[in-house]
Amino acid sequence: MPDHSLSYDVIIIGSGAAGLGLALSLPDHLQVAILSKLNMSEGSTYYAQGGISAVLDSADSLQSHRLDTMRAGAGLCHNDVVELVVSNGKSSIDWLMKNNVAFSTHKSTQSNSQLHLTKEGGHSYRRVVHADDSTGKAVQLALNEQVLNKPNIKIFEHHNVIDLVTETDTLSGKKRVIGCYVLDAKKDIVFSMKAPCITLATGGASKVYLYTSNPDVSTGDGIAMAWRAGCKVANMEFMQFHPTCLFHPEAKSFLISEAVRGEGGLLLLPDGTRFMPNFDKRAELAPRDIVARAIDHEMKRLGVSSLFLDISHRTAKFTKSHFPMLHERCLDFGFDMTKEPLPVVPAAHYTCGGVMTDKNGLTDITGLYAIGETAFTGLHGANRMASNSILECLVFAKQASVDITRFLKNTKKQPNIPAWDDSKVINSDEAIVVSHNWAELRQFMWDYVGIVRTTKRLQRAKNRIELLKREIQEYYGKFHVTSDFLELRNLVTAAELIIDSALLRKESRGLHYTRDYPNLDDKHFKKDTILKP
Ligand code: FAD
Ligand code: SIN
Repeated sequence: MPDHSLSYDVIIIGSGAAGLGLALSLPDHLQVAILSKLNMSEGSTYYAQGGISAVLDSADSLQSHRLDTMRAGAGLCHNDVVELVVSNGKSSIDWLMKNNVAFSTHKSTQSNSQLHLTKEGGHSYRRVVHADDSTGKAVQLALNEQVLNKPNIKIFEHHNVIDLVTETDTLSGKKRVIGCYVLDAKKDIVFSMKAPCITLATGGASKVYLYTSNPDVSTGDGIAMAWRAGCKVANMEFMQFHPTCLFHPEAKSFLISEAVRGEGGLLLLPDGTRFMPNFDKRAELAPRDIVARAIDHEMKRLGVSSLFLDISHRTAKFTKSHFPMLHERCLDFGFDMTKEPLPVVPAAHYTCGGVMTDKNGLTDITGLYAIGETAFTGLHGANRMASNSILECLVFAKQASVDITRFLKNTKKQPNIPAWDDSKVINSDEAIVVSHNWAELRQFMWDYVGIVRTTKRLQRAKNRIELLKREIQEYYGKFHVTSDFLELRNLVTAAELIIDSALLRKESRGLHYTRDYPNLDDKHFKKDTILKP
C-alpha cells in the first residue's frame, strides 16, 4: 500500500513553552512539525502568571534554590535533576530575553539585578523573574513569533494527535517510535505523520478535575498516549492544587497568583482572622500543598464555600502596578482587590507526575521524548515549588534538542506507517455519552480523589473508571473519533493512573494526603510510584 504520510525529522506535539523551546533549540537543517490541539497559544504556558524562578540576586545562591525545591518536594526530588535545572536558571532567562521576552525591571534596594524579582511559596529569596502578572503570555507570544519566522518549522494548529505508532526491533525487542495518527479537527479527517523522533510536549492533566486553573487542552493526552505505547509513568498521585483561585460562578477557577502572597497578601477566614501561621511558620508563603490543605481544612471546619485573600493593606498604586491584569480581571468579576479581600478556593493546577524520562527527556521508547508538564523528570518530587515549571520546560527542551540532534545522525530510514482504518466505523449519534462521561469523571475525581483522600473513596473512583473504560472502548470501536471523545479517552487513562498511584502510596506526603495513612512513612515510601503498562 502506498504511504501517504507526511514526513519530518522531528514531530513536536504541543506548542507551549516546552514544545516551542525545543523547536527553537533544534538546528535549522532539521525539518520540524509542531502540532497543537487548538491555536498555538492555547495551553497553560499562555496563562502563567507569577513567573520563572532563577537565581539572579547576589544574596541568593544555587544551593538555596536547590534546597527550597527539595524541601517543597517532601523528600522525593532527584538531586541530580534539581541541580541540572537550577544551575540553568540564568541561562534560560537569558535565552528568553534573546528571544524578545520582555521581563519586568526595576532598580531595587533589595536586589542587585536589573530584573524585578518577586517571591512565591517555598522560596527563601526573591528569585521569580516575571512580566508583570502575565509572564506566560509574554513568553508564549514572543516564542510564537520566533517559530513563525523559521522556514524549517511547520505549524499545524487544530490538529489533535490520537496515538503514537511504534515498531519493535526483532533483534533487541526494543520499541522505537515511527509516527503518529492525527485528527485534523477542522476538516474532520484522520491522517498519519512519520518521523524518527517525536516529542510529547502536551502539558498536564488537571482537566481531570471539576475545578481547575488550567485551560481546556490540559487533558493528559501525552501521558495517556505514552502509556498506551508502553512507557512507564511515575508519581501521578501528586496532583497539585493551587490554593487561590477566584471563587465566582463565572470565573472558571481564575488563578490569583501566588505572587500576591509574595508581595504581602494575607489569607483570612470569613471573620477576617489570619489562619496560616497556625499551620506553618512560613504562613502564607509555605509550599502549596500545605496552604491548599489548610484552606480545605478551614473551609470544611467552618462549612463555608470560600476563604479570602487580602492585599488591600498595600497602596492601590502598588497593587495596580504589580498586578495590572489581575486587578482588571477581578474588577470584571465585581471585586476591587485594592479595596477588599478576594474570595478564593483551591483548584487543580499542576501534574507533578508524568511520562518517565532521563535527563535528556528520553522515554522508554527509542526516538520518543517527553518534556514540560507531561514529563516526570524527578524535579518536583511530591510537590512542585512555585515557578519551577516553565524553567523545567526550557531546561529539558534544551537537553532534548542536543540529544535529538545526536540521535538523528545515526537513524535508519523510516518504515511505512499503516494507514488509519476507519472503514468499519460510523458517525456517532451518541455525543451525549461523551459529554455525560466527561462531567461524571470530573465530578467524582473532585469528590473522591481531591486534596484529602481515603482508600474507600479512591476505590469508589476506581470502580467508576472501570465502567467508563468499557463504554469508551465500545464507543471507539463503533464511531468516528472526535476531539471531545479523544480527550475523554485520555482523561480516563490519566484518572486511572492517578487513582492507581494514590492507592499504592500508603502514607501521606506532599500533595498526597490520605486519612487512612496520615503520616509520612520514609521507611516504606521514600520512593517514586512507578507504573508499568
Ligand atoms: P502547555 O503550555 O500546557 O502546552 C501544551 C500544548 O500541547 C498545547 O499547545 C496543546 O494544544 C498541545 N496538546 C495537548 N494535547 C495535544 C494533542 N493530543 N495533540 C496536539 N497537541 C496537543 N508555571 C510557572 O513556572 N510559573 C508560573 O507563573 C505559572 N503560572 C501558571 C498559571 C496558570 C493559570 C496555569 C494553568 C499554570 C501555571 N504554571 C506556571 C504552570 C505552567 O504554566 C505549565 O506547567 C507550563 O506552562 C506547561 O508548559 P508545557 O509546554 O508543558 O504545556
Ligand atoms: C502563580 O502565579 O501562582 C502560579 C505559579 C506557578 O504555578 O508556578
